[in-house]
Order: sequence, then structure tokens, then C-alpha cells
Amino acid sequence: MPTFQPASVDSFRPSVRVLPSATVSGRLLCLPLALLAACPAPAQVPANYLNEQPVRARHAMVVTIHHDATDAGLQILREGGNAVDAAVAVGFALAVVYPEAGNIGGGGFMLIRPSSRQLNGGQPVFLDYREEAPGSAGANMYLDAAGNVIPQMSITGFHASGVPGAVAGLTFAEQHFGRLGLAKVMAPAIRLAREGFALPAQEAGDLHAGNLARFAASRRIFQRDGNYYQPGEIFRQPQLAATLERIARNPATFYHGKMAAQIAAFEAANGGMITAQDLARYRVKERTPLLGHYRGLQVLTAPPPSSGGIVLIEILNMLSGYNLPSLGPDRSANQIHMIVEAFRRAYMDRSDYLGDPDFNRMPLERMASEAYAAAWRKTIGPFSPTPSAKLVRPAGFLPAASTPLHPQLDSNQTTHFSIVDADGNAVSSTYTLNFGFGSGVTVDPLGFLLNDEMDDFTSKVGVPNGFGLIQSSANAIAPGKRPLSAMTPTIVSEPPVCPASAKAVAERQSSSVYYLPLPAGCEPGKLRLVLGSPGGSTIITTVANDLISVVDNHLNIQAAADAPRFHHQYLPDILQFEKAFPVATVDAMKARGYSTRRAAEFDEKSAGVWGDSELIEVDPAGGELLGGHDHRHTFGKAAGY
Ligand code: DON
Repeated sequence: MPTFQPASVDSFRPSVRVLPSATVSGRLLCLPLALLAACPAPAQVPANYLNEQPVRARHAMVVTIHHDATDAGLQILREGGNAVDAAVAVGFALAVVYPEAGNIGGGGFMLIRPSSRQLNGGQPVFLDYREEAPGSAGANMYLDAAGNVIPQMSITGFHASGVPGAVAGLTFAEQHFGRLGLAKVMAPAIRLAREGFALPAQEAGDLHAGNLARFAASRRIFQRDGNYYQPGEIFRQPQLAATLERIARNPATFYHGKMAAQIAAFEAANGGMITAQDLARYRVKERTPLLGHYRGLQVLTAPPPSSGGIVLIEILNMLSGYNLPSLGPDRSANQIHMIVEAFRRAYMDRSDYLGDPDFNRMPLERMASEAYAAAWRKTIGPFSPTPSAKLVRPAGFLPAASTPLHPQLDSNQTTHFSIVDADGNAVSSTYTLNFGFGSGVTVDPLGFLLNDEMDDFTSKVGVPNGFGLIQSSANAIAPGKRPLSAMTPTIVSEPPVCPASAKAVAERQSSSVYYLPLPAGCEPGKLRLVLGSPGGSTIITTVANDLISVVDNHLNIQAAADAPRFHHQYLPDILQFEKAFPVATVDAMKARGYSTRRAAEFDEKSAGVWGDSELIEVDPAGGELLGGHDHRHTFGKAAGY
């Protein structure tokens, strides 16, 4: 049996937990509260962010949290690869150089938007390679005999992992949409694992994480059994290099072959849940991306099992009824008020309705309707907050949340990267181990960390998960089910360009929340933005704020990435600010009646930041690519040619 460490800090928590300090205080890499002591200080939000300038490139751009991963993607683009080739190269490279979140033992989403009919007939693709609950998982698996959630069980150790999807997802992407083949795109990752890379100071500090110290292989590989790696030291991972070489030769081995047997044997020997059958059953799911509209632009975004897209669309729909710049500048109290009230309302729907679409029927079209957004707007006062406890959903749009609207038809640390290739094809991808270094467990002798994505499920209705999210039975644990996510890879473009004969069809199609095939004769509209971030429950509000900062407030993409963040997720009813947020604005929000919290206010060691926006904008004037790398992290970069 695995050992579980009770979270001793729980005793003073309110019944609805605020965002764990780990999410909003020290690390955007979200170590859970109990492990926070291990967190070093990340960089602060730059005070002069409005004056910063993006990286500029004519042809192609890669933006990631790690400079070695950015270089891997750029190398592949220069060798003739497309955005998908580069994305797969970055995905595998991050698994080596960014073990906090980059992974092959986790899962994620990849949104691919072709710039023309030459790639996938012009059709956008959303790859769901989210982790899946193992066959032995059950709705009450994290409850004790008294029906209480067992602290940490879904977060650390052998019972916390879902069946990993990253290898399936990345190799599927390469095989179906790439040009260069696995051997070529995985070569940079294999080299980085075998020859090693110089550890950035921030990252060397991250490797002190408490969850790694608890498992023998993790302690040996990442902490040299207590002789910690120093900033600048070369970190080599020979076991991981061998694993990646085997995957490059035969990706099926991870799910069906010898490697699957090794993973299953390791799990069985340690009381873990993932079996050979679970691995063999795992499939990548190609899903139809969601389509929203904002200020004349198309917003292509993540469908369930991510909550990100539909919640983003609801937020934008509510905000399209306001002229935000007329209320004040970016991050002004008046703008924040309207945006937060939209956040609150959309997150209420998130907690009541969303889960794995293969296990639930969800009212997405209705949630995305303009009429519903207009009805919500009527409940937003011009100045004061609506307390979440008093929020009443407009009647007549959605089924009552308490009726059985979630029938089971058959029977949810993270990193984001953005890529645009020389043809204008775009990839927006967010993938994760959930909390920093996932479950803390490294599969021996394969050298990769397993996720703790099981915590994204509803362990018990009404009890917050690691991100303080209250979720419904739609997200209850069931074998083969994928946990609800907040990851929101998003691509913004101009509407398609259609001949007069196809305009009516195009308009009709654009009224659906699902992206429908381009009508004959139409070409994809111009690319404008590639967006996304980690940060658990804060992901959606970070993406929304980045989008609003650029589209409404005309910040450049670098300033948008670095702008200080605010967040509200309905419950807990607290307006949260990064530590660097201007004091006067926070006080103004308090004066309006908001309960406010400044991240890590009393923790001098913590920068009090969250999220990590790795963004690309296409300059609408000259078509130049503009890269914005989030300066909360000192070791990533935007680069292009
Ligand atoms: O899928 C989700 O929503 C979470 N597992 C993401 C976790 C995350 O972003 C942690 N990192 N900051």
C-alpha cells in the first residue's frame, strides 16, 4: 500500500477552500499546499510590463517555458517541419528539460489550426490525450469508511495517476499531421536526455520538491539522493533517453508492447492501479474544437473534457455586451469588475454541468448562446459584486443543475507552448502532470514521472479539489473516464474568407458552438493569436485576460503575457490578485464589497504569481509574428526566424 501524508494544514481551512497557496503564491507550478515548503521564489511580474516588446519574426515562431525546448522546436521548423512537427519536438523536449510539467507520464490537449486546405483540408483538429481513470477506479475511491476524502490520496503516490496519454497524443499528432517522422522530431529530446542540459537556477530549486523525495527512483534521479543538483549543473537522464529511443523506434510499445508490460509490472509491485489492459485500451480522441465569437474574431478553443473552452466562450459572450475600454484602461477597477462578474457566472456553470463528454450530456449550445449571456448580463450591477451565494442562474436556458442531467451514456503541473510555422499553421498545446512533478512517482527503470490527474475528478460532490474547485457528479470517477480539465489551448483568427455563394452557409455554421467544416470555396481567415497557460483553475481566467488585454485594450502580446493577474472562480467567493497587483486597485475592489486576497501576501520568499502565458500574435498590419514569453519564468523564450 502506498503511504499517504495527511495535509496537516487542513484544520484551518474554510469548508470551501481558497486556491491553494501553491497555486497562487510561490509557484506557477502548483505544488499542493502540503509541499509548498519546497518551492523556491519565481520571478516577479515586471513593474514596467507595459513598455516591454515582443520578439519579432518574419516566418515562424516558437514560445515555450524552456529555452532548450524552444530551440528544439525552432530547429525542427528550420529543417522543414511544420507546426505539428515542431509541437511534437517541443512536447518531448519539455518532458526532458521541464520534468515539473513536461511529460510522457501525463496527458493534455493539442489544438491544430491549418492556415489553408493544404493541412488536413483546412480543418482544425483538437487532440484529446487526457489521462483516463484506470479500470479499477471508482467513484468513492478517495473516501474513507466515514465517507470523508482522504487527504493527498489523489495527489501523491501510486493511487493518484490516471492512464497516461502523452505518448499516444504526441505520436498520433506526428503520424497524422506531421511531415518529418518521429525519429527526426524526437531527436532533440533524446539528445537533451542523453547529453544533458544546464539546469536553470529556478529549475534547480524546483527539484527540491517534497513529493520527489518520497519515492526512491524520483529521489535518485532528480535529487541525487540528497546531493541536490546546483544551478548551471548538467542534468543527464540516461534512463529517460533509452525510453525515448524505444518510443521513437516503436511508439506502440508504451501501450501494447514490452514497455507497457514494464509499466504494469512496476505499478503492480508498488500497489499502483495502472494495468496492461488499461494501457492497451487507451486511445487518443480527435474532438471537434469549440467556436466562439468576440469583437468580430473567431475563437477556436478546447471542448470537454476541458471546461476551458465553454467557460471562456461564456465569459467572452457576457463581455461582448460592454465597451471595456470606455470603462477605463486595462486592469482598472471598472474593467476588473465587469470581467470578474463574468468569471463568477461562467465558473458557476462549470461547477454544475461539466465532465467527460463520453459520459455526460452537456448543454453546451445553450451555455454558449448569446441570449443566455444577455440574460446573465442583466444580473451584473455596474459597481458592486454579486455574492456567489446569492447568484441565481437566469431561468429558462439550462436544465436545473439538480435534475439527473448527467446520465452515463455507456454504462480533469502543466505547461503551455505556442507555435506558428512558415505556412501560418498554428499549434496551441497545453499538457500536464497536474501538480508539480505529478504524483512524485518515477517509473523505474523507465525514468519518467507519473501524473496525479485523478485529483481533477470529483472525489466527493461539494468538497473542493486541489485547485479549490467544487465539481459535480458529471465529473465523478469511473473506469475509462477522463477528468474535467481547465486547460484552454486557444487560437483566435479572423472569420473565414468565403465567396458570396458560400457566405450564408458560413454564417449559419458559425452560429454553432462546434467548429463545423469550412464550406466549399471558403479559406481559413487570418491567424491573430495563439494563447494558453498552465495554472489549474486559473488557466481560463488567464487566457481570457490575455485575450481581452490584446483585443480590447491593445496591449502588445509581451505586455499581455506579463500583466499582473486577477482571478475569480465563483467559489470560493474571493477575488484573487497576484502579489504585484497595484495596491490602489485592490483597495478599490475591496471598497466595492469584494473579498480580496493577494497571493502570498505575507510570504516574503514567494513572488505570488500564477500561470505562464506563452503566446504568439500575428501583427494584423504587416503579418509579422510577435512572441510573448511570460517573464515570471526566467528560463523560457520566444524565438523565430
Ligand atoms: O487539467 C487541469 O485543469 C489541471 N490538471 C491543470 C493543472 C495545472 O495547470 C497545474 N499547473 N499550474
